[in-house]
Amino acid sequence: MSLKQVICGFTTLVLILSNSFLLEAQLQVGFYASSCSLAEFIVKQEVRNALSRDRGLAAGLVRMHFHDCFVRGCDGSVLIDSTPSNTAEKDSRPANKPSLRGFEVIDSAKDRLEAICKGVVSCADILAFAARDSVEITGGFGYDVPAGRRDGRISLASEVLPNMAPPTFNVNQLTQTFANKGFTQDEMVTLSGAHTIGRSHCSAFNNRLYTFNSTTSQDPSLDPIYAAQLKQQCPQGSPNSNVVVPMDPSSPTETDVLYYRNIIANRGLFTSDQTLLTNAATATQVIQNAHNPFIWRRKFAAAMVKMGRLGVSTGNAGEIRANCRMINS
Ligand code: HEM
Ligand SMILES: *[C@@H]1O[C@H](CO)[C@@H](O)[C@H](O)[C@H]1NC(C)=O
Repeated sequence: MSLKQVICGFTTLVLILSNSFLLEAQLQVGFYASSCSLAEFIVKQEVRNALSRDRGLAAGLVRMHFHDCFVRGCDGSVLIDSTPSNTAEKDSRPANKPSLRGFEVIDSAKDRLEAICKGVVSCADILAFAARDSVEITGGFGYDVPAGRRDGRISLASEVLPNMAPPTFNVNQLTQTFANKGFTQDEMVTLSGAHTIGRSHCSAFNNRLYTFNSTTSQDPSLDPIYAAQLKQQCPQGSPNSNVVVPMDPSSPTETDVLYYRNIIANRGLFTSDQTLLTNAATATQVIQNAHNPFIWRRKFAAAMVKMGRLGVSTGNAGEIRANCRMINS
């Protein structure tokens, strides 16, 4: 054997090994087909059940998957309850507490799955499936969810704020936050379209109504008629911090492109929404999405799949939690 043949054979071996290693480490569509064939069906049933009682939970589940993936990867860490010795992600203010919702939907899906396939389906995957089902049921495109995520054993409130964008961010800050996770600016604009469903507490945008800056109390980039409506719903210094308003008032439970039309009408609710009109590239995306619902739905589905791959553990890493609120003992 010549040296060249040895090197060539060795290279082939390395390629085969690294390739099979990669395959093993990758998420797969239909991951539970043989181990728990009803997994995705049962999650969908539980999501349907929950949404028939409260359609707003769709927004809660989509947002929860986003917050799971941006902090420590999509490992179900957002589902873990705090303990006397640990404040978990879900209790981080103001990003997660008190606004995250939909935990019971994940719990009921998990309970049913543990009953029929004990220890098989991860909480992180249940959340990814539930987010997809929520998008689909509210009118976005359904998409295949590559699965096989393993559940993490760590959830720290202190890791939330450094990874999440606050609603006061401008377009450059948002672009940076999403670039940190491997997303393009276009994908950031696409994913922001999730704000076409759901609601917000007044605290996330109050500054735009009352305390904008030292020269103007009200954000001039906010449509004055819309601002007046918001002021009625969110009085200054209101003692009631539970008040919520829809983010897309015209169709709060429809995954459509009205979010982008709102922005064009200066009716984006957060600074982080309206700011997308202040940059030439993102403004172009806003206008294109507003006029091409089909294309946006497709881009959104693809971006959700990409988000669902963030920092995942596969194979034997981590664990399959028995209860999504607690790490296994
Ligand atoms: C671009 C940066 C983003 C910022 C600054 C942001 C900020 C926020 C804030 C402040 C709320 C209101 C929470 C409340 O007070 O109840 C909210 C709600 C929501 N966000 Fe985002 N978000 C961003 C991106 C995303 C992404 C990428 C998704 C999903 C793909 C998403 C999905 C949602 C949904 C569905 C709601 C409604 C939740 C509900 O009704 O319970 N957001 N977001
Ligand atoms: C306040 O905001 C307005 C509108 O965005 C801007 O023109 C003005 O320069 C700002 N003033 C200060 C002091 O930042």
